[in-house]
Amino acid sequence: MKHLLSTADLSKDEAVLLLDTAAQMAATQSREIKKLPTLRGRTVVNLFFEDSTRTRISFETAAKRLSADVINFSAKGSSVSKGESLKDTALTLHAMGADAVVVRHWASGAPYQLAHAGWLDAGVLNAGDGTHQHPTQALLDAYTIRRHLVGLRGGAGEGVGADLAGLKVAIVGDVLHSRVARANVALLHTLGAEVTLVAPPTLVPVGVETWPCAVSYHLDQTLAEFQPDAVMMLRVQRERMSGGAGGFFPSPLEYTRYYGLDARRLARLADHAIVLHPGPMNRGLEISAEAADSDRAVIVEQVANGVAVRMAALYLLMAGEDSAEGNDL
Ligand code: NCD
Repeated sequence: MKHLLSTADLSKDEAVLLLDTAAQMAATQSREIKKLPTLRGRTVVNLFFEDSTRTRISFETAAKRLSADVINFSAKGSSVSKGESLKDTALTLHAMGADAVVVRHWASGAPYQLAHAGWLDAGVLNAGDGTHQHPTQALLDAYTIRRHLVGLRGGAGEGVGADLAGLKVAIVGDVLHSRVARANVALLHTLGAEVTLVAPPTLVPVGVETWPCAVSYHLDQTLAEFQPDAVMMLRVQRERMSGGAGGFFPSPLEYTRYYGLDARRLARLADHAIVLHPGPMNRGLEISAEAADSDRAVIVEQVANGVAVRMAALYLLMAGEDSAEGNDL
C-alpha cells in the first residue's frame, strides 16, 4: 500500500503489521538516542488545513525520529489564505520533492484526492479529513488497547500478531462529527473487537445501521449491560455545530448528565477497564477532571503511543518496500 487514507482499507494482517511495527518503534524510543537513520534524505511534508496540536507535533516527531526532513505547512499564513487551490498547493509540494505528505483537511475526501488525482507521486497519510477518517488516531487507540488489555485475556500481551478479538469497546459522545469514531469502528471491527456507540439520537449519523457495531442512546445502561473493557470518550465538536451546540442537545449540563464520564460512572467499570480520549478534551463536558486524571485514563499514554504508530506508518509507507521484503503496506 502506498497511502494510508482510511482504516476501512486495511486488512487484518496490515493492521496487525502496523501495530507490531509500532511496538518495535516504541522499543527504540526508550533508548538514550531515539533517532533512527531509516528515512535519511527523505522529505515529509505536514500539510495542515485545520488546527491541530498533537497530531501535527506527533507526525513531526515521528518523521524526525526516523531522520526524515520535515516541512511544516499550515494553511494559515500560507498562500491558501490568498485562495490557492489544493491542486496548486500539491503541485508546489511535488516540485519541492516531497516523498510523503501528511494531510489534515476540513473537507472529507481531500487526502483521497491528493493521493489519486495525479498531482503528486508522494505517499499520502490522512491526518484527519472532515468528519470522515483519522486512521493513525484509530491505530494508536488500538495499539493502546492492545497494550493494556490483550494480555489480560491470557494472550501474549503486546505480543506480535495479537488482534483484539473478544474485547468490548464503547465509543461515547459526538459520533456524528467524529472521524475518530468512524476510523475506530472500522479498525476495531477488523481487529475482532466488539463495538457499541453511545450517543444522543441527534449525534448519531444517518446510515449508522450499516456500520459494523451496535448503537445505544443510554450510557448507564451500556456500562451495566455491555460491560466494556475500554471506554473511548469523544470530544463534543462545537466548531462543527452551527451556532454553538446548534440544537444537538438542550444544554451542556444535560449532555454531561446523560453522556459525561464522571467519577460515579468510572466506579462502575470493571477493574481492568481503561478510558481513552483522543484529545483535546472538554473537561467538565464529556469527561470530568476526576475521570480524565484517574489511573484508568490512558490519555497521555495515547499521545506517546501516537509517535510510535506514526513512525510505523511512515516507515511502512516510505521504506517498507526496501526494508521489509514482501510487505505491501
Ligand atoms: C481528533 C481530531 O482532530 O479528529 N483529535 C486528534 O486528532 N487528537 C479529535 C477531536 O478533535 O475531537
